Amino acid sequence: MFKVGNIYFIAAVAVIGGALFGFDISSMSAIISTQPYLCQFNQQGFNEKGECRGPTDNVQGGITAAMPGGSWLGALVSGIASDRLGRRTSIQIGSVIWIIGSIIVCAAVNVPMLAVGRIVNGFSVGICSAQVPVYISEISPPSKRGRLVGFQQWAITWGILIMFFICYGCSFLDGAAAFRVPWGLQAIPAVLLFLGLCILPESPRWLAKKDRWEEAKSVLALVHSKGDTNSPWVIREMEEIREVVEFERANADVSYFELFTPKMLNRTSIGVFMQIWSQLTGMNVMMYYITYVFTMAGLAEEGGNGVLLPSSIQFIINVVMTVPALLWMDRWGRRPTLLTGAFFMCLWLCVNAGLFAVYSRPARPNEFTSTAVSMSISGAPAKAVIASTYLFVASFAPTWGPVSWVYPPELFPLRLRGKAVALATSANWAFNFALAYFVPVAFTNISWRTYVIFATFCAAMFLHVFFMFPETANKPLEEVDEIFDDTKPGAIKYIGTPAWKTRNTRLQVLKQERRETRNDLSSEEKIGYQEHKETTGPGA
Ligand code: BGC
Repeated sequence: MFKVGNIYFIAAVAVIGGALFGFDISSMSAIISTQPYLCQFNQQGFNEKGECRGPTDNVQGGITAAMPGGSWLGALVSGIASDRLGRRTSIQIGSVIWIIGSIIVCAAVNVPMLAVGRIVNGFSVGICSAQVPVYISEISPPSKRGRLVGFQQWAITWGILIMFFICYGCSFLDGAAAFRVPWGLQAIPAVLLFLGLCILPESPRWLAKKDRWEEAKSVLALVHSKGDTNSPWVIREMEEIREVVEFERANADVSYFELFTPKMLNRTSIGVFMQIWSQLTGMNVMMYYITYVFTMAGLAEEGGNGVLLPSSIQFIINVVMTVPALLWMDRWGRRPTLLTGAFFMCLWLCVNAGLFAVYSRPARPNEFTSTAVSMSISGAPAKAVIASTYLFVASFAPTWGPVSWVYPPELFPLRLRGKAVALATSANWAFNFALAYFVPVAFTNISWRTYVIFATFCAAMFLHVFFMFPETANKPLEEVDEIFDDTKPGAIKYIGTPAWKTRNTRLQVLKQERRETRNDLSSEEKIGYQEHKETTGPGA
């Protein structure tokens, strides 16, 4: 069957899975305060003006959390599906589940139906958010891997933005269409994802693991050397993959438990913490609760339209500021990117904490509908709060956002990659879920100190990255393994090469890739490859 080999096209289709993630994040924001929604799922009768009061707070919390809850589960089980059925097939399954979930929420007539639909949608996003990075990183050339997996984050930011505007626009529709239209429309990208995946090749590394060597080789050739299965690059990649697959077959204990063995625990903790820290930056305070923050800064009456424009600006900043990472992340390397991001986010959070601590006054009883809007600030300090909030988003977007997806798949050997990334992604969802609950409570009870907590997390992640997160940029996936080899001279037991001593080997890798895929090797090198081919046979 016809397959597309252009790596950018492959990434563009696969990251539609990321857009579903973004939809997931902003699918409730502009809808939950509209009358059609509140009346359809009304549990509390009517207020003095005769308006529906909607579901109780607890039930609304459950409806909101159903999605991250389902995603947590989906991410966790995706590893098993991905290892058995393939990366591409599991993403395809994810897209079908999304369509089913969207039909259920679109048709929801009561709270249980809505909650079930959101769990189903969440489940799908869990699968896609975990397996799209695995798929792309296994099919990309090392020098572009960061950029290509980073597209996932870009798609997430687009998804958040698009869904926010669709929901906002539809909130002006009369009747149940206000929420049914956006929740129905969100099925369309999943249809495109499903169809698009039909013409994409499977991950060559997964094929090799399943002993489908010829197919693996033709995928590498299709994607990296215009179909030439004899190109030196393809031959070398195949050789590396073969070595790893054979070694792993002889030594492997391929179950989730292997992730917790002493040899693997360091990597597992780095991968899982990558995602936990990305949540603990506090980015989702901005994504979910920006309207609270801007209401505190006096932009408008709570829930009024005044906060929606400034909120949408942060979603736009999020999209635009992800672009530098796509262009330069592989050049910057993972470590400098993460360290710079943690530093600046810590700074802007401290600025916000300081401004609120010094210039705000506590909210008066009943001044705002939500008790989470616990402070009020005005004048120049309020403007500074808004600016520093935007700067925070602009610091997350090119750093922790994309790297949190690029890094985990790079850390693990092939046999564990699907499951390990599944575990790391499930940690993202568990913390996402917890923060969605914790943040309003924190604002209510400890007001500006909430920022101090997140700033402290940013300082902690800075140190954790500096001491424990090695540089993986540009290394072929098979070579990353060597970093964790604790038998090398200078290596630390169970850890491997100290993280601060690892380097980005971009120039070397780039030169090698260019030469090998263009086939402009010296005649001696060509003879070397020719001899290699003859001795190792056609499968090599
Ligand atoms: C995070 C999400 C967050 C989004 C914002 C992602 O990397 O995992 O939780 O909402 O970035 O752009």
